[in-house]
Amino acid sequence: MTNYLLINKKINSFSKKIEVSGDKSISIRCVLLASQAIGKSKITNLLESDDVLFALKSIKKLGVKYKKYKKFYEINGLGLNSFNINKNVTIDAGNSGTLARLILGILVNSRKKIKIIGDNSLSKRDFSRVTEPLKNFGVNISTNNKRLPVEIIGTEFLRPIEFKENIGSAQCKSSVMLAALKSPGITKIKAKKSRDHTELLFKSLNIPIKIKKTKKLDLIEIKGISNFNGFNYKIPGDISSSAFFIVLTLLSKNSEMIIKNVNINKTRTGVITILNRMNAKILLKNKKIYKGEITADLKIKSSDKIKSINCPENLNSSAIDEFLVIFLVAARANGISTFKNLGELNQKESPRLDIAVNILKKIGVKVKRIKDNVKIHGNPSLNLKGNYTIKNFRKDHRIFMMSCIAALVLGGNWKIHNKDSVKSSFPSFFKILKLIKNNSN
Ligand code: S3P
Repeated sequence: MTNYLLINKKINSFSKKIEVSGDKSISIRCVLLASQAIGKSKITNLLESDDVLFALKSIKKLGVKYKKYKKFYEINGLGLNSFNINKNVTIDAGNSGTLARLILGILVNSRKKIKIIGDNSLSKRDFSRVTEPLKNFGVNISTNNKRLPVEIIGTEFLRPIEFKENIGSAQCKSSVMLAALKSPGITKIKAKKSRDHTELLFKSLNIPIKIKKTKKLDLIEIKGISNFNGFNYKIPGDISSSAFFIVLTLLSKNSEMIIKNVNINKTRTGVITILNRMNAKILLKNKKIYKGEITADLKIKSSDKIKSINCPENLNSSAIDEFLVIFLVAARANGISTFKNLGELNQKESPRLDIAVNILKKIGVKVKRIKDNVKIHGNPSLNLKGNYTIKNFRKDHRIFMMSCIAALVLGGNWKIHNKDSVKSSFPSFFKILKLIKNNSN
């Protein structure tokens, strides 16, 4: 079967209301936490993407049973101390950094040796950023030169730690938070700002957590506990998946879109702040709060009056997964946009900063890169006619979807490889695109 997509026509104008699938970060956290709760948890609108399916397979390997119903998943947690395994186990985390890093946090008290492996892309990523802090809990953990496979043997004598998280990685922070849950005493984390879904979940589960926020850091204290109960959770739509359709609408002609029930947690909405500063006028309607997470319907219209931005660095973390499509908007803006200190983008499923800059150059956008800073010279009348092949991007789902959006709004003949990659985070991507196309004129 061909695993590439050909796009040779811009999308026509459309007006459409859509719903994107469940948030990936919250889905993975819910699966892992439900596996550690005592008794049944019921998770509605769980994202059924590969990253989350690998999370479900992983807890099953640890002896936790789950069942899929029509509208929800039921997970039968065994508690914080009971892995139902009597032999060494290998867990495959597939493409998911979040799964691999967070699950290490829950394995700190496993009695058997557990080996974490992953696909080619995941095997190239740095794991020392989580294994180093986890070692301090008293755990035996080793990497293959900072990479996968990682092997861990937990201990029953966990001790709480003090950890300074200075990358701004929610995966590192969350991994340590999960380990803290199992360690008697108080673990103290000083974390650079990053998404706070784990904190909100802990609060909603009445897990003893104290958070003090300063301008740059969050000071988090977690008290180890012996158990917590199963829970119900309804997962909101994913802002990162929504971002592709926000930008599709913004850069198309005479189009509008409503995206229903999207998570607009402040630690995730950098993309909305940045695009609105570029004159996008994205509106948030019907705001609701659910277990500390805020959701809203997003209303977007196309615009041919996009301005450039000097992007403030304090928005980097809350837009970290959306910079690829933000770069496309900058390429169509009036003026030169600057983005600084985006080195973390090269630590993702692919070296995203390098690849995005290459794609922009390939389609004739003037880009200046100095170290981890980029300057994008926008051109409001950017229209493409050439042939563009996008390949060798380590099957990075977000590079694939960014390329599709570029093709649909800028024109040209595109051959985009690794179509399957969308399955990692957004399996309904093509279905939604089709709905929009069928509705366009
Ligand atoms: C995630 C955190 C971010 C993000 C990733 C999901 C999470 O990674 O890029 O897609 O769910 O915690 P880092 O923690 O490495 O910044």
